[in-house]
Amino acid sequence: MGDPIRKAAPMTVPGQRQPLIVPSVLPADFARIGDEVRALCEAGVDRIQWDVMDGVFVPNLTFGPDVIAAARPHSTVGFEAHLMVVNPDELIGRYVDAGCELVIVHAEACTHLHRTLARIRDLGARSGVALNPHTPIEVVEHVLTETDMVLAMTVNPGFGGQAYIPSVERKVARLRRMIEDSGLSIELEVDGGITDRTISGAAAAGADVFISGSWMYAYPGGKATAVTRLRNVAAQNAKEGEAA
Ligand code: DX5
Repeated sequence: MGDPIRKAAPMTVPGQRQPLIVPSVLPADFARIGDEVRALCEAGVDRIQWDVMDGVFVPNLTFGPDVIAAARPHSTVGFEAHLMVVNPDELIGRYVDAGCELVIVHAEACTHLHRTLARIRDLGARSGVALNPHTPIEVVEHVLTETDMVLAMTVNPGFGGQAYIPSVERKVARLRRMIEDSGLSIELEVDGGITDRTISGAAAAGADVFISGSWMYAYPGGKATAVTRLRNVAAQNAKEGEAA
């Protein structure tokens, strides 16, 4: 099968918060991962997120780079690797080589976050930094020039299907102000418990990239309708948030 023509991983433009809908493949049927990736692309997702877990930083254990590399030819959209691992510096290169255009590391797992983010870019990928619910936004204040995306976790990482933590919305709003004050083009992503109900608060608070796993996979109308619904609800609430 020839390489499909891949859309470049879309970036949002400051002030024009077109919401990006990005599924987590955690709920997918891993025995058919190529078919699952194709189905997500056909459903109109903007990118695909791989939740990489090492069983130490979080209790769960998931995808190695070879699984992602095997899925890569089946995708027409970009891949992002969410590294929930204790030693991201050792793994970044392998996930870039596997075909991830965006690599997200946890601030809590990085002794030298500034250097780690710069290294992701040096390897030719876009860089992202994730903050667990308890981690203050000040942690990223001095690395905004090195990052293309900040991920505010709306659950404690490790598993899909957890309940959204609404108090993170205050943090999202403060991150949105920090990003806008910087004048930098940085995506603001939320991940965990995102549904057609919780996405409204996250979008109004200032998020523009939304990760959905269990809700999207369970949506009775199918993935394409789920993606459209999430995108519409997010866009409507982003406008209301900007007007506030
Ligand atoms: C947590 C994972 C999940 C996953 C999305 O470690 O990162 O947040 O991506 O899971 P749902 O959408 O099922 O909460």
